[in-house]
Amino acid sequence: MKIAIIGTGNVGGALATVWSRKGHEIALGVQNENEFKGKNLLTNPNTTLNSISEAVKKSELILIATPATVAIQVSKSLGDTNGKIIVDAMNIVMGRGPIGFTNTSDAILANTNTKEVIKCFNTTGFNNMENPIYGNEAIDAFMAGDSKRAKSLVRDLALDAGFAECYDVGGNDKFTLMESYAFFWINLAMMQGLGREIGFKILKR
Ligand SMILES: NC(=O)c1ccc[n+]([C@@H]2O[C@H](COP(=O)([O-])OP(=O)(O)OC[C@H]3O[C@@H](n4cnc5c(N)ncnc54)[C@H](OP(=O)(O)O)[C@@H]3O)[C@@H](O)[C@H]2O)c1
Repeated sequence: MKIAIIGTGNVGGALATVWSRKGHEIALGVQNENEFKGKNLLTNPNTTLNSISEAVKKSELILIATPATVAIQVSKSLGDTNGKIIVDAMNIVMGRGPIGFTNTSDAILANTNTKEVIKCFNTTGFNNMENPIYGNEAIDAFMAGDSKRAKSLVRDLALDAGFAECYDVGGNDKFTLMESYAFFWINLAMMQGLGREIGFKILKR
């Protein structure tokens, strides 16, 4: 799949790397092609360096992994996203986010012309995107958004990244719940001292 990565730091870099190794075509979209986080990503296979709008133009799916504070600015910088899927990995942490919105996905929907925004890869640390394996099993991913077509493709990408399953949490009305769930992980990992090497998994019987 042709994937644009907007935000090439911890999260964008981890997913760009695992997806490039799975054969996806990765277009890094950066503000300044001479100076950006994640220059080492250019040594990955199938990976090109682009302006943000060029990366979007050549891709079917766009991952946004920038700070939530710039969600509106980044959304406006993408150009035409009609018919493209946007995957939102951002979280509003400690109230720092797009003004007027309770979650970043609604800010993306309001400032782009795609109708297909999926919140995913926000509920666990980037270290778990680099390696979701714990012992003999992998942790799970979670996603929300109205588009069933987009969720099917995003689930495939989560499995490509090594997650055991990517559970469908519901529609756009679950975007804020997804950010709360992310904060649950952040709270356990950072505030309660468990550290980043923890992950969530659904058990069934
Ligand atoms: N860290 C985690 O474990 C984790 C886990 C899940 C979700 N998240 C969420 O994922 C997002 C990214 O976190 P991160 O840790 O990956 O951040 P990070 O390492 O600081 O990377 C942020 C990236 O965003 C880019 N950026 C900043 N402002 C931009 C703008 N106006 N336009 C385009 N790109 C811009 C930066 O570009 P430059 O290279 O030009 O500086 C950098 O590549 C956050 O919303 C965070 O809440 C983080």
